[in-house]
Amino acid sequence: MWKNKFHISPPFGLLNDPNGLIFWNNEYHIFYQWNPNACEHGSKHWAHLKSRDLINWEFLPIALSPNDWFDKNGCYSGSAIEKDNKLYLFYTGNVKNNDIRESYQCLAISTNGIDFEKKGPVIHDKDIPKEYTKHFRDPKVFIKDGVYKMVLGAQKVDLTGTIVVFSSHNLIDWDFEQEIINGNFGFMCECPDFIEDQNNKALIFSPQGIKADGDLFNNRYQSGYIIRDLYDVEKNDFIELDRGFEFYAPQTFKDENNKNVLIGWIGMPEELEHPSIEKENWVHSLTIPRVLEIKKNKILQKPHNNLKKLRKEKIVIENICFENTIDLSKYNILGDTYELIISLEDFSKHIEIDLRKKGNERTTFSFNPIEKKVSLNRNFSGSGYKGIRKCYLKNLKKIHIFVDKCSIEIFLNDGEEVFTGNIYPNKDSLGIEIRSKMLFTIPKIEFYKF
Ligand code: FRU
Repeated sequence: MWKNKFHISPPFGLLNDPNGLIFWNNEYHIFYQWNPNACEHGSKHWAHLKSRDLINWEFLPIALSPNDWFDKNGCYSGSAIEKDNKLYLFYTGNVKNNDIRESYQCLAISTNGIDFEKKGPVIHDKDIPKEYTKHFRDPKVFIKDGVYKMVLGAQKVDLTGTIVVFSSHNLIDWDFEQEIINGNFGFMCECPDFIEDQNNKALIFSPQGIKADGDLFNNRYQSGYIIRDLYDVEKNDFIELDRGFEFYAPQTFKDENNKNVLIGWIGMPEELEHPSIEKENWVHSLTIPRVLEIKKNKILQKPHNNLKKLRKEKIVIENICFENTIDLSKYNILGDTYELIISLEDFSKHIEIDLRKKGNERTTFSFNPIEKKVSLNRNFSGSGYKGIRKCYLKNLKKIHIFVDKCSIEIFLNDGEEVFTGNIYPNKDSLGIEIRSKMLFTIPKIEFYKF
């Protein structure tokens, strides 16, 4: 009843980070961290899917399994890059002997995009510089100024989190360069990534151990970015990528139009009280692909254009005027898998939207123009985790919502802010209701059933 329809989810077991995202030989490849044996963390494999359009996905055989001495306790996260028409995967081999951790940065190569030949470690555990612990993982490989770079999440011996860079001319021999952050980012930084276009650059990563600060950093761990070049060590202004509940370990890739696209994990490490585990033997999903654009020192995230392919039935209503409450089911706008776009013209009025509503069950998005805050409330969503997340928003012009069986993603003002999370409502909680404290006119509501 909660298995998502258009968000990538595992057939069974636990999914976590997206890995190895790449457009290669005219097809998109996605891999993800997968424990096929249980809905808990352990025995990480790389599950593998491909697609021509980022929408219709085909499951392929498991790409990497933890069955070699250098990855026997998990083929941890990593990335993909093309060289000589071959697909190179870089990942962390996690090894534990008597609870002592070793980390190997490993390579596997494919010529057909299906079978991967493991080449073993390219950076050995013994080559980890002595300034760092064995929490040294998640290689993201890219080309910068004609040289291959690998960013890795790391922990210093004083138990603080950092990010390091290695470089290479052939993807085989790697040299340690330097640490690239110098702020207070908790006890570990995971899944670093770096994007650049003509004018802008950003370092993306998932720090663990940042303290909550008002509306900010309220999840167990964070994912965000700093607008800066790779070596701008002193620039540390960290901005959360997502304001919702579950969003972690995102990774980017270039789509066929050379746009930076991001996919994240709708999940959070160490949080496993999701009802899909007990009832359906699977847990967690990936976000929809989001196109990134850096504008005015901020990353904007927009649903990838290809998602329009999911649109089936379309309902558009215009100039809807109401006082207090409007129940959209009277326009046949309701469901558990859909896209809903609400365009506003009066940007400074209070508005509340209940999604997946029936009786008292509801998930509420709201905008408070006095506080200038938007919020997502899942205290009455059904089973699963509860809570409210908020963030500052000067004014609200557009609300773009994707609802799937147990996942929800809300894009505001064409990607200025995004709220992502899981909800576990009853299957007949399908209503959508809009409320305001005053007379309200909505110029346009677009609804697409998937
Ligand atoms: C992030 C993470 C990565 C690691 C992987 C293991 O969620 O902890 O740092 O490579 O998951 O599954």
